[in-house]
Amino acid sequence: MRSSPRSRLSALLAGAVTVGALLTATATPAQAADTPLRDLGTAKGKVIGTAVTGSKLTGTYGDLAGAQFSSLTPGNAMKWGSVEPTQGTFNWAEADQIVNFAEAHGQQVRGHTLVWHSQNPSWLTNGTWTPAQLTTLLQNHINTEVGRYKGRIAAWDVVNEPFNEDGTYRSTLWYNGLGVDYIANALTWARAADPNAKLYINDYNVEGVNAKSNALYNLVSSLKQRGVPIDGVGLQAHLILGQVPATFQQNIQRFADLGLDVAITELDIRMNLPSDATKLAQQKADYKAVTAACVAVARCVNLTVWGFTDSDSWVESTFPGQGAATPYDANYQPKPAYYGISEALGGGTTTPPTGACKATYSVTSQWNTGFTGNVVISCSGAALSSWRATWTFGAGQTVTQAWNATCTQSGAAVSCANATYNGTVPDGGSVSFGFNGAWSGSNPLPTVTVS
Ligand code: XIL
Repeated sequence: MRSSPRSRLSALLAGAVTVGALLTATATPAQAADTPLRDLGTAKGKVIGTAVTGSKLTGTYGDLAGAQFSSLTPGNAMKWGSVEPTQGTFNWAEADQIVNFAEAHGQQVRGHTLVWHSQNPSWLTNGTWTPAQLTTLLQNHINTEVGRYKGRIAAWDVVNEPFNEDGTYRSTLWYNGLGVDYIANALTWARAADPNAKLYINDYNVEGVNAKSNALYNLVSSLKQRGVPIDGVGLQAHLILGQVPATFQQNIQRFADLGLDVAITELDIRMNLPSDATKLAQQKADYKAVTAACVAVARCVNLTVWGFTDSDSWVESTFPGQGAATPYDANYQPKPAYYGISEALGGGTTTPPTGACKATYSVTSQWNTGFTGNVVISCSGAALSSWRATWTFGAGQTVTQAWNATCTQSGAAVSCANATYNGTVPDGGSVSFGFNGAWSGSNPLPTVTVS
């Protein structure tokens, strides 16, 4: 049983003091008052998840992943190419780390993914295999991976992306080598390896009613009729700004009516960069519409974002010129999109005070005589084309070196002006700068003023 948000927060703060982790001071009221998404989700019977990168699960990223979400999906760590890079040599380190983190934070794990055409090890894709060999390889892979985490995974994306856009089967190692029965066999093997895990087929561009989702619908109907173990469908939902399909809820409902669970497994909503207030407002409306469609259907059990921060999203590298697709910006500030999810889950409209830009000062590391500081400048209902952050050190600290800003200090008074390239802070956006400092005795957090 996990603790209440309040006791989690005090535990977090206590931890920060004892281990000297991130300390922050904000010039405006903290947003800790916002009910975490996971708690809003629980009240609606929804599990709220995020994809994560194991190595990042510390500091602010780890705090947010643990506090805001009730489910984690390893973004890459459980893919075949990650877990068995050389045939017979396994690397479970990142997958183990994520599962352990989830358990420590009272979270579910969605296993992703067992059978896919992509991110397979080269020994597998470059090999020449008879159908019998391929069958053995796939069955062993599923046994090994599902067996390793037996009892610890709430749901597996057993088969990922089996369809083409027109609803025909995608030509893959599996389909070409084994025929369509690879899907039924994979599900059957996964069930045998962990009878308690929910088993899903997951795909993209199947959020609305269309040829591809019709094919998925027909497949899962027939699997159910044949008694093949299938518990749910995953709608990835890698969406484009302003293009939430009008039939999203209807589509979720028709899968639910088959007696299946539905999960929105990889939600992100990308825009052409740079972002601006209009696009961020549209993105909020889109996130809200997707969340509301899930809330409206009882069997929509899980809503997972594919990375919760723009600093941990696949979008910018995959779709050149597009990005800003997640609910938090790259400085871990909640975007309007965050409040779109929160409002659709029944959260109050607790958007940060509008018409203001604020600074959040934190000490990101500290040693005997020195420390590293970080200042995030974020705007809501306002924007800046240049900025200056000022504060007064309370205990004789000094700035020794700054980056992404030019800082001067006179006595205790510090004044940092934007660099030439980061003066613009859009409405709903943020920028940050860092510095090294010296301290002795104590290192209290100052209040920063933005002008
Ligand atoms: C993506 C990861 O996020 C990237 O880090 C990786 O480079 C490529 O794969 N559909 C899926 C996910 O099912 O596994 C993909 O994840 C995104 C699209």
